[in-house]
Amino acid sequence: MCGIVGYVGGREAANVIISGLHRLEYRGYDSAGLAVIHPDGVLDVFKCKGKVDDLERFLQGKNAGGTIGIGHTRWATHGEPSDANAHPHLSRSGDLALIHNGIIENYRVLRDALRTQGFTFRSSTDSEVLVNLIEYVRDEHRCSLEEAVREALSQVVGAYAIAVIERGDTSRIIAARKSSPMAIGVGDGEYFLSSDAASIIGFTQDFVYLNDGEIAVIERGKPLHIMTLDGAESPVAIQKLRLSISQLEKGGFDHFMLKEIHEQPETLEDCIRGRVIPGTREVILSGVLDNKERFLAARRIIFVACGTSWHASLIGEHLIESMCRIPVEVEYASEFRYRDPVIYPDDIVIAVSQSGETADTLAAVGMARKAGAFVYGICNVVGSSIPRATHSGTYIHVGPEIGVASTKAFTGQVTVMAMMALLIGRLKGTIDEGYYHRVAQAILELPATIREALKTAPEVASLARMFTYAHNFIYLGRGYNYPTALEGALKLKEISYIHAEGLPAAEMKHGPIALIDAEMPTVAIATPDSTYEKTLSNIEEIKARGGKIIAVVCKGDDLVRRSADYCIEVPSTVECLMPVVSIVPLQFLSYYIATYKGRNVDQPRNLAKSVTVE
Ligand code: G6P
Repeated sequence: MCGIVGYVGGREAANVIISGLHRLEYRGYDSAGLAVIHPDGVLDVFKCKGKVDDLERFLQGKNAGGTIGIGHTRWATHGEPSDANAHPHLSRSGDLALIHNGIIENYRVLRDALRTQGFTFRSSTDSEVLVNLIEYVRDEHRCSLEEAVREALSQVVGAYAIAVIERGDTSRIIAARKSSPMAIGVGDGEYFLSSDAASIIGFTQDFVYLNDGEIAVIERGKPLHIMTLDGAESPVAIQKLRLSISQLEKGGFDHFMLKEIHEQPETLEDCIRGRVIPGTREVILSGVLDNKERFLAARRIIFVACGTSWHASLIGEHLIESMCRIPVEVEYASEFRYRDPVIYPDDIVIAVSQSGETADTLAAVGMARKAGAFVYGICNVVGSSIPRATHSGTYIHVGPEIGVASTKAFTGQVTVMAMMALLIGRLKGTIDEGYYHRVAQAILELPATIREALKTAPEVASLARMFTYAHNFIYLGRGYNYPTALEGALKLKEISYIHAEGLPAAEMKHGPIALIDAEMPTVAIATPDSTYEKTLSNIEEIKARGGKIIAVVCKGDDLVRRSADYCIEVPSTVECLMPVVSIVPLQFLSYYIATYKGRNVDQPRNLAKSVTVE
């Protein structure tokens, strides 16, 4: 988490940096700051607790002029959000300013060693230790800044993307990365630097992505110079990023989350385009087809993911087991990587991540590769770290997701998993042609089905108003819709701060039913599937104990209506795609409850979109 931006060129650096920081705020928003070098070589830092808007106010009437600078928006790891802990951090002499995304794990040892050399610290951050270490090395070895950065980083244990500038040098930024993302935008006589290329797409579409363990010397008017921490030269490969600015704006909606819920028909069209062919209903996924032998020989598939991506993976488990008859496990990446799991060379590990940057998922990918497994990625952000670390994969192509609560990425992930399961099942001969074509057709129709499901918004909004009083919620589902219940509950927790628990409906009687009373609403997903009758009985059991029930049902259902207090009708599709449809009213429910409670939907407290720390 944390977002970093840098600029060197002919424009006012502060303007470029502020614009980039606004787009990076999804990565953290507890404090922000920037450093510029004025044309006379003076280095100045401006920073404060709060959001990028607060930083802009703070800058009013101050001289932040200069054509080179670095900026940061923070999600606190070491040290509370405060002016002092905000980045950039200055070195002891004030010669160097540094921004950092990541965690320096051995910062205590380094700090103690620096203290013995007379260094003192103004903040409680690991990042301030690093900038002082760089200065110490520079002065001890009387070396250039890039050499000092390289030497200092060789002493560091942890993850980082950093950028450093030096007083008196109005043309160079030194940047480096290990396990935290960093893209360099290449313009006409100017360079940009960012944790996320999309944040500077308004300035350039040409990017160089730094690899782990690389240092870049970014100098106005000179070609980019990239080397490894060991001093070896690295090639400079420029890639085009095709994105439009409109994809990064709210487009008339009050919040990014609402926009992203509403754009799901279009994002699913983008996700499906060229992959399920209308007419023939052929599924074409090059990542699977190019590695057909691997998938056919797979002993097991292990999904590794976090948060919403983990919920999507649980649906992936159902899809693959039922269509491909391959055993599947779903792991929290953070648990998997520390458990010394058994991984066979004929396992396929599928890493699922919207951002492609989640630190635990990335580490799980590294571990699986080391163990010899074939590693596949299902990611959204093109060129991010996970797709670059996997053997192959499929992008979900749903466009930039900016709302912290994931919505369109979830539906895109499940759709990609359904396409994968169909394709592998057909290759293996574990599904019949009729089923294959039915599901393929339903995938083609998904955008239209979701368009219909979006019409639930006004009704869900009025239900939400009735339930803003609740302090707890239970979400129930079975089979394919159990993960939907987990995801619905997570949405509510994330943005409204109401406690919510997702449960498989049948588990209620093993404990949670004790919680039921008139104050505890239950959201039950009761769409017609193989467990429909059973879910109906579970609803009755709650009703009998005085619980209020909001049910998500398919159009025309009248059985559930008899027991539930409120029913939200969604269009039906094949059972295995039902989560993509039934999640839509749950996304709305959390959104409207949160807005009625006055929460900051796009920037909920304590959360960040991209969790690049462990
Ligand atoms: C954070 C986000 C969640 C997301 C999770 C995994 O916690 O707030 O919305 O589901 O990370 O992120 P990923 O980018 O790997 O899907």
